[in-house]
Amino acid sequence: MEIEGKFKIKFKKAWLDDLAVFLRLMKPHRLRLLLALLCSLIISGLNGVIAWAVKPAMEGIFIKKSYEFLYLIPIGVVILFTLKGIFTFTNNYLMSSIGAKIVKTVRDAVYEKILKLPMSYFYKDSSGNLISKVLNDVDLLKNTVAFTIKDFLVEGLTIIVLAGVALYRRWDLALLSFVVLPLLIYVIAKIGVRLHDVGMKTRLRIAKVTTLLHETLNGIKIIKAFTMENAMIKRYENALQEHYRNTMREVITEEFSVLLTETLAGIGVALIIFYGGFLVVNDRISSGDFFSFVAAILLMYTPLRRLSRVNASFQRGRNVLERLREIIFFEEEPDKGKSIDIKGHIVFKNVSFKYPLSKDYALKNINFEINPGETVAIVGSSGAGKSTIVDLIAGFWYPNEGDILIDGISIREISLHSLRSQIALVTQDIILFNDSIINNIKFGNITSTREEVEKSAKIADAHDFIVKLPSSYESTVGEKGVLLSGGQKQRITIARAILREPKILIFDEATASLDTESEEKIQKALEEMRKGRTTIVIAHRLSTTKKADKIIVMDNGKIIEIGLHEELLAKGGLYNELWKLQFSDFSYS
Ligand SMILES: Nc1ncnc2c1ncn2[C@@H]1O[C@H](COP(=O)(O)OP(=O)(O)O)[C@@H](O)[C@H]1O
Ligand SMILES: [Mg+2]
Repeated sequence: MEIEGKFKIKFKKAWLDDLAVFLRLMKPHRLRLLLALLCSLIISGLNGVIAWAVKPAMEGIFIKKSYEFLYLIPIGVVILFTLKGIFTFTNNYLMSSIGAKIVKTVRDAVYEKILKLPMSYFYKDSSGNLISKVLNDVDLLKNTVAFTIKDFLVEGLTIIVLAGVALYRRWDLALLSFVVLPLLIYVIAKIGVRLHDVGMKTRLRIAKVTTLLHETLNGIKIIKAFTMENAMIKRYENALQEHYRNTMREVITEEFSVLLTETLAGIGVALIIFYGGFLVVNDRISSGDFFSFVAAILLMYTPLRRLSRVNASFQRGRNVLERLREIIFFEEEPDKGKSIDIKGHIVFKNVSFKYPLSKDYALKNINFEINPGETVAIVGSSGAGKSTIVDLIAGFWYPNEGDILIDGISIREISLHSLRSQIALVTQDIILFNDSIINNIKFGNITSTREEVEKSAKIADAHDFIVKLPSSYESTVGEKGVLLSGGQKQRITIARAILREPKILIFDEATASLDTESEEKIQKALEEMRKGRTTIVIAHRLSTTKKADKIIVMDNGKIIEIGLHEELLAKGGLYNELWKLQFSDFSYS
């Protein structure tokens, strides 16, 4: 990805690295930056002119007592300040637009990157933290770019120009006021380190607040049902309080650098007044020179104060880079393999698999073969590893040991995009997007026509209830589909899978939330659907498994039995046990 290169710089010093990243991010906007730089030059030049003009103005009014000057000076002042205002406006506009453009680019690139990250990333970084990075953190880049760079350029140049005027008027006085400079630089550098550390904590705290908010919105029903409102408020308040404390720590550190800058500036001014006053008293300096000099020094005050904040803002930007690097440098999901037309032959050969953060293997030495067009049922108690098997087929994870062959080719050599484009997965977690029903179904195949969508919906037993909705297929499902019942939402996801016309169709407990009648209808639809494609059904209700060409019975990450319904019943093993259990379930209900 383009952005990755921009973030990849290796200097000896980390802050140089980060500075280089900012410069690279600004590179596409160099024309604007150049214009802004021009404005900065003009602004600092105007400041210089103002300080320099104090001498002729003073001499014109106080010494020559000329009327001409009396008229000219106010006009000159208005012109100078108006010009300064215009160029400051243009400069701010340009830098803010560069900042906003960079924020847009980075958000875009990070989003794209997130979509390319492997599943393992999302177990490492919570979605709240990711949202916080993309929204809160990236937003800070705008300030870093717009204000840090602008202040650094404008105020830095202004200080240089004013220092030039001061030197030109009285070099000895000027040098005297600059003796505090090395001390100032040292202090700012020291404070920068602390700001960097405190700022990083603030980022983590705001991420925590975002995470809590995100989780609350996702789990609002459970929070209410378990009457956890007060506990959540407490938790949220704590997170806010911690964030507040850290923000204040940051403010104190930042303001402390302003305080020190001002104190040191005061010392500089005191030295000038002492020595300058001495020169004036002894008639060794003209009052015009002296006032022009003092004007230059005083005009330096605001730029100096702003410059002392530049570091704070730069450190904040560096924190953002640090957090973004965690995403940007995370290895993407590989997608280099071959694109193949899948027939649907699946072989697991001695597959063992362990989730990255867990100790135990979720799958242990799994072996089975599914022929193209077969329907296979996987059964077993919860936690047995059924979902893990289908997730491996979809390439969400690669096995730690052994291999998975799709049409005889190792899954590692197949392009994941090509593989997944021929798989349709219906899971128990119902994922609908905040969009119309038709678009949610079309998610399965974006190019399909309205007729095809309706046909799929009919097969999934969804058409009838959809047309009864106020806006039929155009109804919005709301966030997570609050308008619809669980079974209805599930049927939409099934229609989506059907529309995809996959070579491998996977139902992971997809009918668990449906009533028996709907389930039966979908069973029939499935029979239609599975012609010519490999179907894997993880079923809760074993009635589904009767017609399967193969039943895989799992327990604790291992395959216990494989066979046909009748065979497995006769065998009297785990399948028989599960069957009896369910049968007795039914007799009670
Ligand atoms: N993302 C994950 N990280 C760590 N462990 C997981 C993860 N997902 C599932 N597991 C574990 O892997 C095992 C198999 O889970 P799963 O395949 O979901 O079972 P099933 O679908 O049969 O109920 C379980 O012990 C579960 O705790
Ligand atoms: Mg499961």
